[in-house]
Order: sequence, then C-alpha cells, then structure tokens
Amino acid sequence: MTTELILRRPDDWHLHLRDGAMLRAVLPESARHFARAIIMPNLVPPVVTAADARAYRDRILAALPAGQAFEPLMTLYLTEATDPDDVAAAKAEGLVTAVKLYPAGATTNSQSGVRDFDKVRGVLERMAEIGLPLCVHGEVTDAEIDIFDREAAFIDRVLDPIRRATPGLRVIMEHITTRDGVDYVRGGGPDIAGTLTVHHLIINRNHILAGGIRPHYYCLPVAKREEHRLALRAAAVSGDPSFFLGTDSAPHVDAAKETGCGCAGCFTATNAMALLAHVFEEEGALDRLEGFVSLHGPAFYRLPPNEATIRLVKRDAATRWPAKLDTGDGPVTIFDPGFDVCWDVA
Ligand code: NCD
Ligand code: ZN
Repeated sequence: MTTELILRRPDDWHLHLRDGAMLRAVLPESARHFARAIIMPNLVPPVVTAADARAYRDRILAALPAGQAFEPLMTLYLTEATDPDDVAAAKAEGLVTAVKLYPAGATTNSQSGVRDFDKVRGVLERMAEIGLPLCVHGEVTDAEIDIFDREAAFIDRVLDPIRRATPGLRVIMEHITTRDGVDYVRGGGPDIAGTLTVHHLIINRNHILAGGIRPHYYCLPVAKREEHRLALRAAAVSGDPSFFLGTDSAPHVDAAKETGCGCAGCFTATNAMALLAHVFEEEGALDRLEGFVSLHGPAFYRLPPNEATIRLVKRDAATRWPAKLDTGDGPVTIFDPGFDVCWDVA
C-alpha cells in the first residue's frame, strides 16, 4: 500500500484570493502547497486593466508571509470595453497569463462581464494572435435556462461559436461540472483544456440539498447529478493532459454563506491536495496525480513545470483540519468532504 508520494510541486489553475484581510488570511493556505496559481480577477471593482493587475499582484506579494514562495499568475477581467492594446502590452510585459471571460451575471461579482460577445471579438482575435489563453466561466445566464442546464447550453450557444470564430484562440473551460463539458474538452483538439475542482470530484447536488440546505456546498457552477460527478472523476484520473486542477477555492465569510441568500463558493485551499490524494487512490490512479496537479497545466499554459517537490503521506489516523479559517473579516468554513481522509501534506 502506498503511504508516501513525492510529486513536483503543484499549481492551482483557478484561485480566488480576494483582497485586504481576506487575502492575508487565505494566501498562506494556497502558498503552503502550490507554487503558482491563476488568480481570478473578480474583485469589486474587477481587475480590468494592466494597471489594475499590476497593483493587485503587488498587493498579493506584499501579503505573502516571509519564507513562503508563491507566484501569482495574473488575469484580466474581460469587459465589453477592454482595449486589445492594453491586453497585448500586459502580456508582452509578462504581467498577465490569461484573460477571464465571465458572462455578465453568471456568478459572484460578474456584473461587469460580457453581454454582447460581438463586442469582445477584437480582443479575442488579438489574444489568438499573441498566444494569450482565455479562461472561461462556462454558464449561460438566461433566466429561462434551468441552472442545472446552464453549462451544457453555454457550450452550444457561446463557447463553440467563439472558438469557431477565433481559430487559434486557446481556451480553458474552467470548473467543468458536467459530462457534456468533459466530452467537449476531450474531443476539442489541442486548443482547449478543462479545469476540475476538488469539490466537484466529491459532491453531487444531493450533498447541497438532501436532508437540509448545506450552504458550504453551494458554488457555481452548481454541483450536478451523480453521473456527472463520475464523468469528472474519470476525466481527472484519465491521464488526458487536457484536464488539470483548478480548485476554484472561493472564500466567503460564514455570515455571507449562512443566510437567506448565500454566496456561491467552496473554500478548499487548505485541504485540496490531501483530498485529491484520497480521490486518486480511490480510483486506483495515484500514479496519475502528478500529471493532473503538476504537469498538464504548465504544458497547456506553455510554462515549465515546477522543479521543487511536495511530499504527501498517508497515516493510519484521519487527518483533522480546523473547521474554520479565521480571517480579519470573519470565519471562513473549510470544505468538509464528509468522510475521513488519511492523506496529508507532510
Ligand atoms: C466564485 C467566487 O466566489 O468568486 N464562486 C464560486 O462559486 N465558484 C466565482 C466563480 O468562480 O464562479
Ligand atoms: Zn472561480
């Protein structure tokens, strides 16, 4: 039985770090295990320009505790007013690694996102030319589309048309939650990849709703039926380099989750790597964990994999994490998988 794993240091290809006191509290949780992360730009106001990204990167680096190494890979929030020249300059300077597309209204702080996709055509064409990838929140926002169908509808109505209209644009379909998403990425050729979160490999929609509403399992895209969770697991452990980890760790204080209209987001930065070791072991695929967390992402983003390593150990007793992370803004509940996990990062 495997009780120790040494992997190249992993990266997180989709992470929410927030700002201020929340940033200071959650950043060490990611930096402890991950070398780099794609940093989501959905602050209030969002990170839209190169100047915004530079200032946010500086705030992240200033919040990093002495002795921790971590490279924030910055993204720009695509709006209908985004200037292609500003994006190209940010890429040329090495400041940004991707641009993020939120359909307007799809999720937390996405009001400034895109309504009319024709308005961003020029930016997308420029990105294809200069080799800057597009990260996509893949849900339509039309009120008449059922929330459980929004990802599948997005593929047909938005994602596929964008890709056909912009040959050469490299796209990451983020936090895939359906078999439809897995199938689209798997059959989509070298210019598309998909990220998978830890929590979507663990929960289905029953975890949110059966036996009482559990706000800490509510995130967007919302967890779907069990058949979809199984498709995500199969993709994660398949060894297919089109799939890699993006935790979408998205902290909200308990007061904003445990309320009449709770925010979407699961906070998994603290235990993501241990939970993944558990999942990959369950699937008999521990030998493929390194590809998923440390190799496939850099290959798609055309970055070198990390040279440093991380050690995971499996102990006899269950690993215990605190229930909450204290932040200056209030407590944040750490994702509870609902079963014992004996893996830990040593
Ligand atoms: C994210 C957040 O809180 O910023 N929430 C979430 O449920 N994942 C936004 C997002 O990535 O959709
Ligand atoms: Zn997210």
